[in-house]
Amino acid sequence: MTRTVRFLLVLLVGLALLTAAGYVALTSTTRSWFERDLELRAQLAVTAARQSLATNWTSDRARLAQTLTDITRDDRIMAAAACSLEGEELATTASYPAGFSCRSVLERMRLEAGAGATSWSMTPELPSGRIELSVSTLTEGPVQLGVVVLVHDLSFLTRREATTRNLLLLAFFVLSVGASLVTLLAARLSWKNWTLELRRALAGGGTQEFQPLVRDVKSLAERLASEHDREARGGLWSPERLRATLTQHLQGERVVILANREPYIHERGPEGIRVVHPASGLVTALEPVMRACSGVWVAHGSGSADRETVDAKDRVKVPPGEESYQVRRVWLGAEEENGYYYGFSNEGLWPLCHLAHARPLFRAEDYEHYRRVNQKFADAVCDEVDSDDPIILVQDYHFALAPRMIREKLPRATIITFWHIPWPNAERFGICPWREELISGLLGSSVVGFHTQQHCNNFIESVDAYVESRIDREAHAVVQGPRRTLVRPYPISIEWPVHWLSQVPQVAEARAAVRKELGLADDALLGVGVDRLDYTKGIEERLSAVDELLTRYPQYRGKFTFVQLAAPSRTKILRYQELNDRIEAVAAQINAKWTNGTYRPIVLLRVHHEPAAVFRYYRAADLCYVSSLHDGMNLVAKEFVAARDDERGVLILSQFTGAARDLTEALIVNPYDLRQAGDALAAALKMPPHEQAERMHSMRRMVSEFNVYRWAGRMLVDAAEIRRKDRMQGRLSLFPRGEST
Ligand code: G6P
Repeated sequence: MTRTVRFLLVLLVGLALLTAAGYVALTSTTRSWFERDLELRAQLAVTAARQSLATNWTSDRARLAQTLTDITRDDRIMAAAACSLEGEELATTASYPAGFSCRSVLERMRLEAGAGATSWSMTPELPSGRIELSVSTLTEGPVQLGVVVLVHDLSFLTRREATTRNLLLLAFFVLSVGASLVTLLAARLSWKNWTLELRRALAGGGTQEFQPLVRDVKSLAERLASEHDREARGGLWSPERLRATLTQHLQGERVVILANREPYIHERGPEGIRVVHPASGLVTALEPVMRACSGVWVAHGSGSADRETVDAKDRVKVPPGEESYQVRRVWLGAEEENGYYYGFSNEGLWPLCHLAHARPLFRAEDYEHYRRVNQKFADAVCDEVDSDDPIILVQDYHFALAPRMIREKLPRATIITFWHIPWPNAERFGICPWREELISGLLGSSVVGFHTQQHCNNFIESVDAYVESRIDREAHAVVQGPRRTLVRPYPISIEWPVHWLSQVPQVAEARAAVRKELGLADDALLGVGVDRLDYTKGIEERLSAVDELLTRYPQYRGKFTFVQLAAPSRTKILRYQELNDRIEAVAAQINAKWTNGTYRPIVLLRVHHEPAAVFRYYRAADLCYVSSLHDGMNLVAKEFVAARDDERGVLILSQFTGAARDLTEALIVNPYDLRQAGDALAAALKMPPHEQAERMHSMRRMVSEFNVYRWAGRMLVDAAEIRRKDRMQGRLSLFPRGEST
């Protein structure tokens, strides 16, 4: 109905505009017609009386006055005067207005129409109404005798205009009422028909071909309704609510996470052992979930002091000082790490899944390591569970084969696998020589999650293309024999509030401190970029956008600095080494181009920064530019928003990130389009504070509500539902312990 009201409003405004335009056009046309009419009348009157006027012009003023009175018998001519060319009043009618003496009328005529003018008119406003004064020259042969001034009554023109206006208003009113009635009637009829149709269709009366669509609509509506109810009852997601969900839906079972990267790395340095928090979106998101749920995080022990810090069972309690969950470290030999992590995971799957123009390398020996290491981790997970139907969260592309391996040992397990990077379309995925095995490994999961519906669709399309299965499009599931795997989008997020912020100075202090450290003026404009040094992040394009800004917006030269925090990553891989060199060269080139005294537009900091240091930069910056060429989600964007409790700062975000779907108030750009990115940087730098606040406020609301506790909670609730259904249908008994599915 709101659409009808909107339509009606537009219609009425349109009618009003038409009426107003009609009124203006009509009055101006009738007025010009009428003025022309008056001029003709004046000329006629003077011509008709010309003989008498000329005869008496200088000789008989009484007769002259009488002739003027005769002229005023025309009911539109109110008064008349006969004037000599010098402005002397030869005769006037009794009602001739005193304010328009012959002299003043002639002076005005000569001033406005020129000295040689023979006729002229003016329309002054008197207290009694509007009049027109028309002046005509009286000639006898070639001799000009003088001028006759006629005063016309224009009050009837005002009356005529008022009548026109009233008629138009009446027409507008009648048309509006008519249009409103017709619109409402039509809307009511079509709404009624539409709802009747929908009801009939939902009730099963629709045609056969619409049945799948109807079922989809029905199930979507039910899901949305129940989700909405659940959300409304629970309030904002928090660690407490996540714990309560676990207790309520999953009897408080502990969670086992399998992820390659561990959340705390023990490194040996000159001052002894220190704890490092790795630069990984996966860790950023999952660590708070583990703190809330407790349990075990099974990961590769990659730190130089990791072995020294574990107990006899390779476990270490974390977070240091808090010890709310455990990390179980799995050790890999150099060959295993090269083949499984650097090789197949990061030279094969990573470029396969990201559209960033890097060619995947598929080596059979890497894949063999990948398979064996997946088995090693799957075994470690099975060691860590404390029941035969545990909840296991498998993370990312390092472990595509592990879900099926775990299921073989623990058929009753609830396995939720989350793929943190994009899933390409089937054609692209099809170039992988082990595509069937990878997909089938993932289908060992109870749920496979992606950030976006698009990636879910791509996955289902790949399943359809390469493995034997049935796709249940209604339930968004893949069915293989008695087993089904749900495929769902769960857009990941960050904790809210971010616990690191308690260690970070407030915005004013952070701004001043960071500018001082970088040797910048207090009022220098600062942009920030935060990434692992990875070719998918579009760092070169980002630096080139800064160059573009300085080229086309000279006012920012010497004033704007962009600081790029780039954490070294996967440095054993040639592609990453080349990227490192290229970025260094691009930064140097741009700095050389714009250097001026101590000014350098780009500050490239290629070291790992701990989270608190990163958040200090977010708070110090005027803008943050996330320019990924392809990114599953990108949590840097959400972290920047979380840091800005002052509701200032502008986020520029690549359209090729999952985050661009959530953070629509960011300035969304195509990072390849340098002109657009340069313009976005300029727009961010001159964005007024109130607009920054509006955008930031809305993005903060979004991130606070859709936080990582909600992400985990929704997956766990879905998993619980699967368990309930499986138990009710007795399916679990089909899989006695140890039997392969
Ligand atoms: C991406 C991946 C994560 C990974 C992170 C850091 O976000 O999805 O699984 O942990 O990059 O990469 P790294 O190879 O250092 O773990």
